[in-house]
Amino acid sequence: MLPMSLLQEIDLFNEITMMNMTAKKNEIDDSRKKQKLNKIAVFTSGGDAPGMNAAIRAVTRAAIANKLKVTGIRRGYQGMIEGDFIPLKASDVSGILQLGGTMLKTARSDEFRTSQGREKAYQQLRNADIDAVVVIGGDGSFTGALVMSQEYGIPFVGIPATIDNDMYGTDYTIGYETALNTVVEAVDKIRDTARSHGRIFFVEVMGREAGLLALNSGIACGAEVILIPESKEQHEELKKFLKKGYKRKETSGIIIVAEGDEAGGAMKIAEDVRKEHPDLDVRVSILGHIQRGGSPTAKDRVNATRMGVAAIDALLDDQNSIMIGLANAKIVAVPFNKAVKLNHSIDTDLLEIQRLMNF
Ligand code: F6P
Repeated sequence: MLPMSLLQEIDLFNEITMMNMTAKKNEIDDSRKKQKLNKIAVFTSGGDAPGMNAAIRAVTRAAIANKLKVTGIRRGYQGMIEGDFIPLKASDVSGILQLGGTMLKTARSDEFRTSQGREKAYQQLRNADIDAVVVIGGDGSFTGALVMSQEYGIPFVGIPATIDNDMYGTDYTIGYETALNTVVEAVDKIRDTARSHGRIFFVEVMGREAGLLALNSGIACGAEVILIPESKEQHEELKKFLKKGYKRKETSGIIIVAEGDEAGGAMKIAEDVRKEHPDLDVRVSILGHIQRGGSPTAKDRVNATRMGVAAIDALLDDQNSIMIGLANAKIVAVPFNKAVKLNHSIDTDLLEIQRLMNF
């Protein structure tokens, strides 16, 4: 049986609203123009992801097109606490659409986890006359936004950006597609040398708690085995492969390992395999932060732009504590408390497909 589609889940929750996010300047009705909103802030938080700049650009330009002032907060929540703010005009976000990283920089802030830290952040927002905030990041960033919104009543809207693609309620997060292509390009190259030497490569990809990047890159590269935190059964597949599927010097193997796999990462797994199969020629390659960099793909740029415009539209519609998502290619709004508390499930069909390709 096919797993329940995301859209069906969304219907069940009924709190997630399909939104028409065209945000055409001319169509904004006059009553909404007399909004309470005057100035918004935008910032990036957590691990950077390709396409964050495209989202900053879209938020800034959509806001200005709607007669809002825009402030950029540098260095995530830490910059909010310290008042590291810069005004953003439409021209300030020129030439960044195609750039990886984030022009606003990013951080993971321990101070923001304390109530004193959040109070300082609130005072800084107040002093700068900021009425609402767009946060571009992952679940940690949205948890912070939810808490701050509950404590101080500041409206926050989130745009999901993480190469892990692990947010509940959205099929897609900004940066995932670019990272996926980076992994595929790297593994294709590793395959060349693996095949030439008849070696088994354990390739570790990012994803501390999520295996989606590993799973899809593994399928795209024809990996013999894929190890992800969400499925222990895959270790049996590895055993089978090592036992009969691999004949030294005659063939090669690519095992994709998500960094969060419970067996302890590619190094540890490779060590164990070497002990058990001393005849095999085993190598490890950890792709690391190369996966977070680079120019965003066209899809990441387009979706970041759509989501940025949708975030401004949501704020103009008086929405608060929601994440903009994409479900079945349509823009949706997902309450923060669902987006951060529920897990993004892995499509187990993909594991089945991968096994079928290597039966
Ligand atoms: O959340 C994105 C991510 O790249 C994960 O895949 C990874 O586990 C983590 O960030 C690494 O974070 P840092 O760069 O802070 O070590």
